[in-house]
Amino acid sequence: MCGIVGYIGHREAYPIILKGLKRLEYRGYDSAGIALYDGCDIKLSKTKGKVVDLEDKLLKEIPTVGSLGIGHTRWATHGVPNDVNSHPHYSNSGNLVIIHNGIIENYESLKTELKNRGYSFKSDTDTEVLINLIEDVMKNDNLKLGKAVQIALNQVVGAYAIAVFDKNKPNEIVVAKLGSPLAIGIGDDEFFIASDASPFIEYTKNAIYLEDEEMAIVRRGKDLKIRKIKDDSLVDPYIQELQINLEQIEKGGYDHFMLKEIYEQPSAIKDTYRGRMLVNEAIIKLAGVEDNMKKFLNADRIIIVACGTSWHAGLVAEYIFEDLARIPVEVEYASEFRYRNPVINEKDLVIAISQSGETADTLAAIKLAKSKGAFVFGVCNVVGSSIARETNAGAYTHAGPEIGVASTKAFTTQITILTLIALRLARAKGTISSSDFRLYLMELEMIPEKVIKALESEEHIKKIAEIYKTTRNFLYLGRGYNFPVALEGALKLKEISYIHAEGYPAAEMKHGPIALIDENMPIAVIATKKGHYEKVVSNIQEIKSRKGKIIGIVTEGDVSVRELADHVIEVPETLEALSPLLTTIPLQLLSYHIAVMLGKNVDQPRNLAKSVTVE
Ligand code: G6P
Repeated sequence: MCGIVGYIGHREAYPIILKGLKRLEYRGYDSAGIALYDGCDIKLSKTKGKVVDLEDKLLKEIPTVGSLGIGHTRWATHGVPNDVNSHPHYSNSGNLVIIHNGIIENYESLKTELKNRGYSFKSDTDTEVLINLIEDVMKNDNLKLGKAVQIALNQVVGAYAIAVFDKNKPNEIVVAKLGSPLAIGIGDDEFFIASDASPFIEYTKNAIYLEDEEMAIVRRGKDLKIRKIKDDSLVDPYIQELQINLEQIEKGGYDHFMLKEIYEQPSAIKDTYRGRMLVNEAIIKLAGVEDNMKKFLNADRIIIVACGTSWHAGLVAEYIFEDLARIPVEVEYASEFRYRNPVINEKDLVIAISQSGETADTLAAIKLAKSKGAFVFGVCNVVGSSIARETNAGAYTHAGPEIGVASTKAFTTQITILTLIALRLARAKGTISSSDFRLYLMELEMIPEKVIKALESEEHIKKIAEIYKTTRNFLYLGRGYNFPVALEGALKLKEISYIHAEGYPAAEMKHGPIALIDENMPIAVIATKKGHYEKVVSNIQEIKSRKGKIIGIVTEGDVSVRELADHVIEVPETLEALSPLLTTIPLQLLSYHIAVMLGKNVDQPRNLAKSVTVE
């Protein structure tokens, strides 16, 4: 995720763009840049760091004059966050300049072709490839910028929201969208461009949200024309009157970042597997794994180290690695591992999981494992973070910035990437048949749609939250792949509502927690069809005989649990190994609504922090 802003009109562009970038920083904040047209030339300043760092640097580097400009705040995907990889990017001639949010998946082949035609590249980004592709089309066919953008985008595979201008035509900005958002604010003789409406809400309430595969040329003092990128047909612009206030927009219209992030899971999961899983070809490509395949295949065992929610994702991974790839796995709290003199050597492979990439205990566990000769692979969300740098290799989740302290989309994207790794290794080891492999890919591809379906239960979940919001204790039970989901469900409730909750393997209930059960104890039981369904139904019967209140998380169409439970929440059917990606959704929503009803600070719960950089 990145944030993009642009302005063309009669005001000074710089303050509008700078303020807009600050509002879009939730979308990414590892580097930022602005390009302005000062009346004769493009003036550009960019830097690694946040928008405030850019502000300091830019004021020393360039004049802030001009009524046309574009700006970008980056959340790196291709190329580490540094000054060179920051946007905007020039074309080779220096005439064109671009900002881009998204991923150009076929950038490597395009780059090779452009290199063969004499183009050179300063950065590692896919974006610099795109701007030179546009320049190449423009030069070869002697075309105007708009047409060249259109032709170039027809050669591109991936996702984008872009804004481009040409210093030789400084009265227009060309914008286009596929997959990533792009809003155009329409003022009096002026246009605003942004990833969402927050940068221009105080200037105009009139906005157009471009649809996928649409492009527009915004010209100073002229009407806006929108075209289809594929066939050049004109589209009637649909101008919306914005009803929202600034604060809502910053949270994307949601009351809390946590809820927004819960709802971002379908796209976050898709972003995490996009370009890495080719379903038709039945291929999984993860550079960090491919480059180190021998290490993975020769490992005697995998040790997973993590904290908090990331540790729960590690537990899900234990099931899937052992199940599919037949590699022994141990999952360790990083804080325990680092202090208990673990037996570990160069035949071990360690996977460190961390959303922030900054958790002190996980970082220390990595250093310890490396010092003993183990190969360490990182699964992080924040690009360029300490853990991403300290590990020998890794794979990023593409969840986008997670702001709510209670982790949601980080968890499901971690499971997604770990599933891809397990499947890739299973294929390499021959422990999965090609038909099963294909089935997994097809099912994984359908998960985002199924998450959307699971989210549709929100109103029903709210009613359940209303009933149990005053309880002081909660139990969560699950078996197999869904045991870690029970732990994660309990953690979510504790974190944001301060209700005591425990997660247990369902069968362990009779070794202790069953003593707690009476008519006042609500128990969320994950009882999806695949896996140990009958056994879990027996556990539910044991709860029922002790008058516990049962909330069943079940597969669509379930009958048996419905007969026993006080409430059921349905999720779509999928393969057992993928079910945590769905069963976790209602538990996130349940804890969210209980916390909201109790008036708790959902996004910043007491005593917690998003990134724990101390022991
Ligand atoms: C903190 C956060 C949790 C997170 C844990 C591990 O406790 O509040 O949400 O799961 O740290 O963080 P990491 O960034 O390493 O995944």
